[in-house]
Amino acid sequence: MDLMKNLEGFVGENLDLLTPVEQAWQPTDFLPDLTASDWSEQMARFRTTAMAIPDELLVVLVGNMVTEEALPNYSVSLSNIVPDPSGVATDNWSQWLRGWTSEENRHGDLLNAYLRLTGRVDMRSVEQTIHHLIRNGFNSNYQGDPCAGLIYAAFQERATRVSHGNVAKLASQSGDENLSRICRKIASEETRHETFYTRVVGQAMDQDPENAILAFRSMLRGIVAMPGRRMFDGKDPDLYDHFAVVAQRLGVYTVTSYAQIIQHLIETWGVAHRSLTGKAAKAQDYLCKQAERYTFFADEIAENLARQPHVEFSWIHGVRA
Ligand SMILES: [Fe+2]
Ligand SMILES: [Fe+2]
Repeated sequence: MDLMKNLEGFVGENLDLLTPVEQAWQPTDFLPDLTASDWSEQMARFRTTAMAIPDELLVVLVGNMVTEEALPNYSVSLSNIVPDPSGVATDNWSQWLRGWTSEENRHGDLLNAYLRLTGRVDMRSVEQTIHHLIRNGFNSNYQGDPCAGLIYAAFQERATRVSHGNVAKLASQSGDENLSRICRKIASEETRHETFYTRVVGQAMDQDPENAILAFRSMLRGIVAMPGRRMFDGKDPDLYDHFAVVAQRLGVYTVTSYAQIIQHLIETWGVAHRSLTGKAAKAQDYLCKQAERYTFFADEIAENLARQPHVEFSWIHGVRA
C-alpha cells in the first residue's frame, strides 16, 4: 500500500487522461435516433449495414461485449488496491478509479445496444452469459498485490485495444463502417487508459525496480488470466475457450498478439536495462525471454486452433463458428 501512496502525486499529474464528461462521446452518438421522425429509416439503414457482418465476427463481438459488461467485477477487484470506504473520496487514486469506471461503462453499453439493434443476436442468452460472468467473478491472479494489479491493468487495456481495433478493421472490410467506427472509438479509449496504467507502472518500476520486476514475473507465470474467462451461457462449459478459438482464427486476438503485448511492455518499462541482482535479476532474465517463447509456438498453436471443430454458439441462433 506504500506503493499506492507514493504514486498518488504522479496519478494526479495524469488525471487529464480522463475525458471531461462534456467532451466525451456517448453510446447515443453512434446509434439510430429512436426519437427522430425518420427513426424507422435510420433503423433500416442501420440493420442493412449490420447484415454485412459475418457470423463469426458477430460471435467475437458478443464475446468482447460480454467481457466489457462484466465491468463491476473489475471495479470490485481494483477497489482492493484503491480502497475507499466512503465511496466519494477525492484523493487522486479514487478519482481515477471512478473516472476510469465511468468511461469503461460506456463500452459495454454501446456494444450491447449495437448488438441488440442488429436483430441478429439472441440477447437473452447473451444477457444470461453476462449475468453468470458477474456472478462467477474474476480472478486476475494478482492476489491483492498493488503493483501486479497495475501491471495486469496495463496488459488488459492493451489487449482490449488490440481486440477492438482488429474487430474495427474486419467490420470495415465487411462493409459495416458504423461498427468499425464504434470499435475504433472504444479502442482509442482503451489506448488512453493503457497510457495511464503503463505510465504509472513505469513510475513504480523507477521507484522500486526489484518489487515491480518480481510482480511482473508472477503475473506472467502461467498465462495472464483473461477477464472474461468465467463466462457461461448456461449450456457450454467451455464457452470462453470456444470464443477464444474464433477470436484467434479471425486474427482478432492471437497468441502473437499476446507475445507482442508482453514485448511492448518489456520495452516500454525498460525491463532489460534495469540493474538488478539475485532473485530480481533472475526474474528479469525470465521476463525478457517470454515474448520469444510465445512467438516460437505461435504458428503451431494457431494451426492447432484452426483445426478445432466449429461449435454452436447460443448467442446467435443456429450459428456454428
Ligand atoms: Fe473497455
Ligand atoms: Fe479498458
